[in-house]
Amino acid sequence: MTHRIAMSRRDIFTAMAALGVGSLGPATLGTRPAWAQDSGGEPERGLGEIARNAGRFYGCAVQASYLAKEPDFADAVVREAGVLVPEWELKWGAVEPQRGHFNFAPAEAILAFAEQNGMTMRGHTLVWHRNIPAWAKSALEAQDRSLMGIHIKQVMNHFPTVQDWDVVNEVLDPGSTRPDKLRDSPFLTALGPRYIAQAFRYARGVAPQARLVYNDYGVEYELPTHKTKRDAMLRLLESLKREGAPIDAVGIQSHLVTRSGVTFDPASYSAFLKEIAGFGLKIIITELDVQDTDLPADDSMRDRVLADAIQRYVEAALAEPAVAGILTWGLSDRHTWIDTDPTARRSDGLPSRSLPLDADLQRKPIWHALAEAF
Ligand code: XIL
Repeated sequence: MTHRIAMSRRDIFTAMAALGVGSLGPATLGTRPAWAQDSGGEPERGLGEIARNAGRFYGCAVQASYLAKEPDFADAVVREAGVLVPEWELKWGAVEPQRGHFNFAPAEAILAFAEQNGMTMRGHTLVWHRNIPAWAKSALEAQDRSLMGIHIKQVMNHFPTVQDWDVVNEVLDPGSTRPDKLRDSPFLTALGPRYIAQAFRYARGVAPQARLVYNDYGVEYELPTHKTKRDAMLRLLESLKREGAPIDAVGIQSHLVTRSGVTFDPASYSAFLKEIAGFGLKIIITELDVQDTDLPADDSMRDRVLADAIQRYVEAALAEPAVAGILTWGLSDRHTWIDTDPTARRSDGLPSRSLPLDADLQRKPIWHALAEAF
């Protein structure tokens, strides 16, 4: 079985233009890697299928350029994922770098790739304090009250088949001096604390059936900041529900760490998920990966520790019936934001081993931990 980057001529053209590449390479991808074959010649099941059989979903974040330029990577994505998330292509700075000048082509290329290979795409992200283009940031800071709604409508209207959206991202800050712990952001400046409920209403106006998600990080561990954020999140959810905001799910990013002194407690985490579910909301693990910042260099040692951290976390998450699925932030160690982030990458310069597949697209212990947990 080979997978095709089955894009229309128009898709190919727009993707190429967007990526600044002259050729997409061969449309038919190369021979299947060894891990994709068993003795009977039948492909081994990927995580997407394993999750689906368990009534969950599995997917990963990707960048359009990887799919276009790396056939082996594209093949692994088709093999493993049921859902794709654009890693940056739908962020405001990417879709509308100048006011009224849209660049939807890279996200369109991911959507086309997903749909033509039997996957769905989820949208990430509409309202986020980071990656706001300069023109929009100044307009919001000058208290432009219509811009957020216009932005939500423009992006969502462009992708009517996308039915799962991170509407707001990272809206809480445990270090805030505000009692509600709402993050200081241009949206808060422009619209006040009700901007979150308003964002969900705008999104619902465009997509009556879509799953509308509030996504955030920093609630996974027994750290004081995480405890503060859990409390603030539950209070925010309560107020959103009280005023009838059309929110369907909470996304928990789940950028895990293996630093000493950072404890994961399955019982306390499960109790937190149960409280979210108690609001009638679904939960998605949206950006799972695990940092190996302080671990020794040895690969197999690192792999065991990282897989163990993932397994403990994911088993606690999947024990909660409201958890609909898991997305990793990337698929292969070939491409991970961890190696580009000064606070997350290793000080010895070694590439991290934070994702299910290694840089050669071979399955690692993290892959097996996920497969087993599903
Ligand atoms: C990150 C991407 O992975 C990077 O490539 C980009 O430079 C910055 O953003 N939380 C989020 C994601 O919600 O959008 C972030 O993605 C990682 C943290």
